[in-house]
Parts: sequence; structure tokens; C-alpha cells
Amino acid sequence: MKTIKSSPLIAMLLGFIIVAVAMISTISVEGRKHHVKKFKPKHPRHSKNTPIGSPAPAPYPSTDEGIFDIRSFGAKGDGVSDDSKALVGAWKAACKVAGGKVEIPVGKEFLVKPVTLQGPCKGEIVIQIEGTLLAPEKIGSWPKSSLFQWLNFKWVSHITIQGSGTLDGRGSNWWNLDTYQTQKKNKYIPPMKPTALRFYASDNVTVRDISIVNSPLCHLKFDNSDGVKVNNITISSPANSPNTDGIHLQNTRNVEIQHSNIACGDDCVSIQTGSSNVHIHHINCGPGHGISIGSLGKDKSVACVSDIIVEDISIQNTLAGVRIKTWQGGLGVVKNLTFSNIQVTDVQVPIEIDQYYCDKSKCKNQTRAVSISGVTYNNIVGSFTVQPIRIACSNNVPCMGVELMDIRLKPSGGIRGLQTHQQQQALCWNSYGKTQGPLVPSSIGYCLKKSNINGYYPKRFITSSHDKTCPS
Ligand SMILES: *[C@@H]1O[C@H](CO)[C@@H](O)[C@H](O)[C@H]1NC(C)=O
Ligand SMILES: *[C@@H]1O[C@H](CO)[C@@H](O)[C@H](O)[C@H]1NC(C)=O
Ligand SMILES: *[C@@H]1O[C@H](CO)[C@@H](O)[C@H](O)[C@H]1NC(C)=O
Ligand SMILES: *[C@@H]1O[C@H](CO)[C@@H](O)[C@H](O)[C@H]1NC(C)=O
Repeated sequence: MKTIKSSPLIAMLLGFIIVAVAMISTISVEGRKHHVKKFKPKHPRHSKNTPIGSPAPAPYPSTDEGIFDIRSFGAKGDGVSDDSKALVGAWKAACKVAGGKVEIPVGKEFLVKPVTLQGPCKGEIVIQIEGTLLAPEKIGSWPKSSLFQWLNFKWVSHITIQGSGTLDGRGSNWWNLDTYQTQKKNKYIPPMKPTALRFYASDNVTVRDISIVNSPLCHLKFDNSDGVKVNNITISSPANSPNTDGIHLQNTRNVEIQHSNIACGDDCVSIQTGSSNVHIHHINCGPGHGISIGSLGKDKSVACVSDIIVEDISIQNTLAGVRIKTWQGGLGVVKNLTFSNIQVTDVQVPIEIDQYYCDKSKCKNQTRAVSISGVTYNNIVGSFTVQPIRIACSNNVPCMGVELMDIRLKPSGGIRGLQTHQQQQALCWNSYGKTQGPLVPSSIGYCLKKSNINGYYPKRFITSSHDKTCPS
């Protein structure tokens, strides 16, 4: 620094160098842009597939700068050729320009093997899906090292996936693994099943308008992400396709899921640990297992879930309506959840808290539990097939601040459809809070233990200070 100050000549020279460097880099940016524009499609515009006289196909790549049609990167779109490389190529090109857009054109099927589309990108990026992406159909066609998911977006910011196209996970072989192996005489048992579309460590993600169907496992998963918007999507797999969750959130904050249809073989939406500030509304759910917080606290793990609003939802033909499930022995906090304006039809158990969740016939009783507090149910109306309400809280860590307001639940087939008198009644175990009418069945009115005016905290609850285990 000293020498520069003392010598005006050197300062001038430096200034000149800086200007020169700036000019050179501008030129190279221009060069790159030019290169993008000049990108030649691999097929000629009038390929032999185009019958003479038929209207000319839309020219591609689009003349718009920053649009990357995967056909320009060698994709065949015949549903048979492996178009994975083309998709990755289009992604890489689009990722390099601000506002880049990958186009999956309408009327074509692109077979894609598992791929990771990685950021960070230059700026916002859009994947326009108008056609169909197909996952490999044969289990043996999945690389053994890539069974975690099919399409993986990693470290991406400000991404939008949109369009009227479809992601087809072609999961039926995975659902019927036993039959598949017998038929194929295939001894290979894959150690896991893939999720269809996953976002990992990404932020400002929008998924809208598309359909995601027949995933081998979960359809749409967000983990370690922040700022998610899901709007107007369709998720569909058969009721008997095992473990095919609709949307799975884990360690993900600031989420809005709205105006979507979810029909699958497991939870419509599953909210796992580390999720907070989640707003789910105007969803149609069913068949499936309903909207679920958890399961949480498995193998003595810590779970933290807070600030969840689920409202204006319609649920039909599901195992549960809205439920919270935790394993015994876990730690952590589930707090501040609101479920309101929920219409249920033929739902086995519309309202459920299960702190004895267990995937075997019996699990060991344990004293520790994930604490649950501040759960409001307001205006939950419709029909059930097994029991209207089942709130089973831990013996040692009761549920606190549960509110049941305007709950009207009737047995689907009338009272006679139920097997026992018990099933008509609301069940609550070790749960504190308040109720407010109208309440049907009336047993809901006596279900919760009353908190006192300051909130009743049993001694044992105070001694287990769970709040320290979760970030506030
Ligand atoms: C919802 O998505 C479909 C395509 O799947 C589209 O045609 C429709 O316009 C979208 N609706 C809204 C309100 O955006
Ligand atoms: C998402 O983008 C908006 C606008 O750029 C920004 O304010 C917000 O912080 C971003 N969210 C995340 C989680 O990065
Ligand atoms: C409860 O969650 C809602 C929705 O995320 C939020 O707006 C509200 O501030 C939270 N309330 C408390 C007491 O944290
Ligand atoms: C666990 O606790 C429940 C409720 O107190 C009781 O009904 C059950 O028998 C216990 N199970 C075992 C395996 O001890």
C-alpha cells in the first residue's frame, strides 16, 4: 500500500491493468452468451420423424436466450432411450445463466435414470415439465449406488419446477418386490426404495402444477431445506402401494403446501423432525394414511416440530385424518399445531395422538417421551369408520394445552356399523386441555383433563425440561 501511495506512476499502471482485466472478462462473458445462443440442436429441424405436410414442430432450442430444451442435448424422448445425460446437460447449461430454464417438451416420454441436479446456480432457475419423465421400470436398471432417490436437487436456490407434465416413478415392481423377485428369479434384494423427487439443502423452492405418480417410495421430499412452496400439484399412487408418502418434510422450515390433490398408499403429508412454520391448506387427501406429524422419537432420538397450521382440508378413505405419532423413549418437543376446517369422509380415526407408536405388536414401555403441547382442533366434521378421537398421551409426559372445538364426527355406516360401543366414544389418555361445543359424539366433552386457569402442569412434566433439547 505504501509504495502505491508514494508512486503515482505505479498507481496509474495498476489502474490501467484493472480496466484491462475488466474489459477482457466482459468479452469472455459475451462470448459465453454467444455460445449459448449458437447452440446447435443435434437433430435437424425437419427430422425424418416429421411427416411432410404436417405442421412444423416448434423450433428448438427456443430462440429465447436461456431456454434449454433437453432434445438439444441429445434426448430422444421415445420412452426407451436413456435420456439421463441430456437432462444433466440441459441442467448444467441452464444453471450457468441467471434465469435459465430447462424444458421437457410436451408429448414426449423421457426415460431418466437417477440423477443429481446440483447447484448453486447463477441465479433463478426453472424446470418446465410439459412432457413425461419416466423412471427405470426394471429394478435391476437402477444403479445399486443410487437407490436413495430418482431425481435429486441439491444445493439449489430459487428453483421453480412447473408445467402440466408428469414425473412417473413406475413403482409397481418395488411395491410388489416379492412377486417381482419370484417372477424374475432375481435374488438381488435392494436395500432401500427410492423417493421420486427430492430437494436436499435447497432454499426458495417452488413446485407447481405438475403430477408426480407411482413413486417406488415417497413422491416428493424436502430435507434440510428452507422456503418451500407447493401449489396445484397432483400426487397419485394406488391405496395399496406400500410406504408411498405424498409429501415428506424433514429439517425443513417455512413451507406452504396448497391447492393440491394427494392420493397414495401412505401419509398424504408427513412432517418429520426439524420442521417448523409449515402451512398446509386446500389439500384433498385420500386414499392414504392422512396428514401426519411423525413418527417422532424413534430409538430415543430427539424430535422438534413446531408452528404447524393445517386448514381447509378434505380427507377421505384414509387410515387417520390428522395425527401425531411418537415412539416411547424419545425426547424433544412438538408444539403449537392447529388443525382447522377439516372435512373427513370414511376416515378410520379422524383425530389421533399416539405416543405409543410401535411398528411391532408390542414395544417396551419407557418413561421418556417427546412432549406434546398446544394442539388445537377446530371445526373437524364428517364421518369415521373406527373411532372419532383417540388421544393416547405418555404416562409420564402428558399432552398439554389440547383444544377440541366444534368437532362433529359420525360413524359412516351409522352406529350399527361399529363393532363395539367403545368405538363410538372419544378416547383420551393423560391429556390436558379444554373443549368447546358443538361436540359430537358428546363424549368428546369429557375426554380431556381440565387444565387450571394458568395451565395445569403436573409435577413430572416440570421436571423433564424438554424445551432445552430443541431450538426455540
Ligand atoms: C394447475 O395445473 C394445471 C396443469 O397441471 C394447469 O392447467 C392449471 O392452469 C393450474 N391451475 C392454476 C390455478 O394455476
Ligand atoms: C427466498 O427469497 C427471498 C427473496 O429473494 C428472500 O427474501 C428469502 O430470504 C429467501 N428465503 C430463503 C430461505 O433463502
Ligand atoms: C404458532 O404458529 C403459527 C404458525 O406458524 C405462528 O404464526 C404463531 O406465531 C405461533 N405461535 C406461537 C405462540 O409461537
Ligand atoms: C405399558 O403401559 C400401558 C399403559 O400403562 C399398559 O397398558 C401396558 O400393559 C404396558 N405394557 C408393558 C409391555 O408393560
